[in-house]
Amino acid sequence: MRYRVTLIEGDGIGPEVTAATAEVLEAAGAPIEWEKMPGGLRAFEAFGEPMPRPTLDSILRNKVGLKGPLATPKGGGYRSANVALRKTLDLFVGWRPVRSLPSLVTRHHGVDLVVLRENTQDLYAGIEHEITPGTVVTLKVSTAEAGRRIAAWAFEYARTQGRRRVTVVHKRSVLPRTDGAFVDAFYDVGANYPFIQQDDVSLDDLSLGLVQEPERFDVLLLQNLYGDIISDLAAGLVGGLGVVPGANVGKHVAVFEAVHGTAPDIAGQGKANPLAVLMSAVLMLDHMGERRVADRVRASIDHTLAGPIRTGDLGGRAGTAEFTAALIDNLPR
Ligand code: NAI
Repeated sequence: MRYRVTLIEGDGIGPEVTAATAEVLEAAGAPIEWEKMPGGLRAFEAFGEPMPRPTLDSILRNKVGLKGPLATPKGGGYRSANVALRKTLDLFVGWRPVRSLPSLVTRHHGVDLVVLRENTQDLYAGIEHEITPGTVVTLKVSTAEAGRRIAAWAFEYARTQGRRRVTVVHKRSVLPRTDGAFVDAFYDVGANYPFIQQDDVSLDDLSLGLVQEPERFDVLLLQNLYGDIISDLAAGLVGGLGVVPGANVGKHVAVFEAVHGTAPDIAGQGKANPLAVLMSAVLMLDHMGERRVADRVRASIDHTLAGPIRTGDLGGRAGTAEFTAALIDNLPR
């Protein structure tokens, strides 16, 4: 069986890192046919839309997409294509597994946690207005329905992936209604999962704990704003945005993506590190049930990072092509 997957190359270094990823996957024997579709700045220039309808339709048809980074022009032009993608396809879960790589030296070892972010509500609902001249407000939206939906996803995820604990994060002390509702929905749904440990932690306690002892966390469930910040902080614990995968997942559709941006400073120079997109593609293979191919690529990543060939952002001198060739060479025979 071959899977058809929508591929959005994206802007800046996007075409370089997605091409490198496709090469490694092909060499690893991933049964994938890519359907390349436009997205981001190049799509906006060509079609007047950063996320054209045919691209969305392709993802809906294929159920799975892989996406390079998309540029969002500062000061306007169009609204973020990433936000459009999440909203239109109702990709309500931001999924970011964060694991220490055995061969990458960082301050902490043995980090193995998962950040799950509610993608559709909270302050990012974008309801902002000026109530009197000089006074502006933003609404923090929290519905019980969205809270229950993501809590159910988190517990099912923990159950199927053999995770032992899910922790909900909040600032209930200052936001008893909104954050309180999110925590209540979590425990309500959690009652159906008595075999999974469940607890809650305030955002400030979590921040301290992550910096001091990140090894003690397992699955973390957060609202939109907290999740946005903590997912990047967590990536920093294991080596940064270049070495963590990410995905946005809905009821029927999942889009896997690099969590870094378009890196305009190095775009087109053959220097970009393809690991973040490649690791997202590995997560995609896991999601499809292609565990064997995913494990082969994971083994190659570990093996490659243990050697001297690395891109500049990881302290090496290799370009994208040399690094990609090493990843292919190091695939288990
Ligand atoms: P950035 O992540 O593109 O760059 C920050 C720094 O990290 C730069 O020095 C860059 O060279 C480096 N870097 C990033 N990815 C790298 C890789 N794979 N290999 C080697 N070095 C890498 O963040 P920035 O500059 O804030 O954003 C640039 C553009 O990207 C903006 O238009 C922004 O809107 C967009 N962006 C898109 C995202 C997405 O599509 N998911 C996420 C973040 C930013």
